[in-house]
Amino acid sequence: MNRAPPLHAPIEHPESALPAGVQRLARTEVLARATQLAFLRFGKADLDAAQRFWLDFGLVTVSRTSEELVMRGADTSPALLVARRAARAHFAGAAFLVPADTDFERLQRESGGRPLAPHEIPGGGRGLALKDPDGNDVWLITDWGSTAPLPLRAALPACENVLGRRARVNATVRSPIEPAGIGRLGHVVLQTPDFATMATWYMRHIGVIPTDVQYLEDGSPMLTFFRLDLGALPADHHTVVIVGGLEARYEHSAWEVLDLDALGQGQQVMHAAGHAHLWGIGRHVLGSQLFDYWKDADGFEFEHYTDGDVFTADRETHYVPFAPGSIWAWGDDAPASMFPKKSLAMLLRAWRLVRAGKLTWARLRLMGKTLDAPARPWL
Ligand SMILES: [Fe+2]
Repeated sequence: MNRAPPLHAPIEHPESALPAGVQRLARTEVLARATQLAFLRFGKADLDAAQRFWLDFGLVTVSRTSEELVMRGADTSPALLVARRAARAHFAGAAFLVPADTDFERLQRESGGRPLAPHEIPGGGRGLALKDPDGNDVWLITDWGSTAPLPLRAALPACENVLGRRARVNATVRSPIEPAGIGRLGHVVLQTPDFATMATWYMRHIGVIPTDVQYLEDGSPMLTFFRLDLGALPADHHTVVIVGGLEARYEHSAWEVLDLDALGQGQQVMHAAGHAHLWGIGRHVLGSQLFDYWKDADGFEFEHYTDGDVFTADRETHYVPFAPGSIWAWGDDAPASMFPKKSLAMLLRAWRLVRAGKLTWARLRLMGKTLDAPARPWL
């Protein structure tokens, strides 16, 4: 008997073979090439609650005062996250490492910003504090310090038994129920009302390469997964994601853990501590990561992930139709809260954007139609 056919196969087009009507994402001159997403900065009204969440999430405290919390992971980075006490919880921005020969003078001449004092950078170094077009801080730093890595247990998939290959013999899988153990900071996702301007700005100021561009029905880009340009060295499928939307805001950040068992056992720890689970465990399509999403007390989203794709700089950009179902390959449905809710406030926001010439009603209708489509019509 013949096999049942697949229910669905993802669609993608290499840039060299774009279908008619799909617009190529315009590239720009590059002023600096980031080599690492170094750390994220937040403002938090309640540093105690923030610290509890991030400890359960798998980060480790480096220092804590009444005004500032610095946390790290298991890698050699002196910090992955800095939170300052603030009246209102907010995402302040991201810091990226750039090579020592980066032309900071030209960057400052053309893009403004201010030089960073060494004491402002956890782990030391020098650099420039820029603002992206939406007002997020983007710090470019060099001569950053490093610290001894922290031990993690041995990874389990090295001895994973798959069909046709038995690597684990006379041994069992007994992973401890412990926080997921953050290995490194993976990526940050930013929503913006002005996709084209933000995408161009990040390509110009940190030299990122579009890995996958998602487009609307009219062929216009709406979301892009950008990877670092590390030349022949493999880089994560995405380190920065720019998503077109109605608001300028932090969407989520993603933190790499050791393996699938770390992800699963970490989930138990988060549940046991009473944190708000958002989505997972599942596998993404674009980037292929196994994921699990959490919300902190202020509603900021944090993703654990493992087993993501990596590409060298010469891999061609691909284009994928945007659809809610394109976000994940399997796992539970993405919660409705991950997509914009129709409300009077949203309509007002849209009206303001249209009036400012940043959005057209036609594009808004197209975005709405795309988001309203069933994510998995085969279910
Ligand atoms: Fe993510």
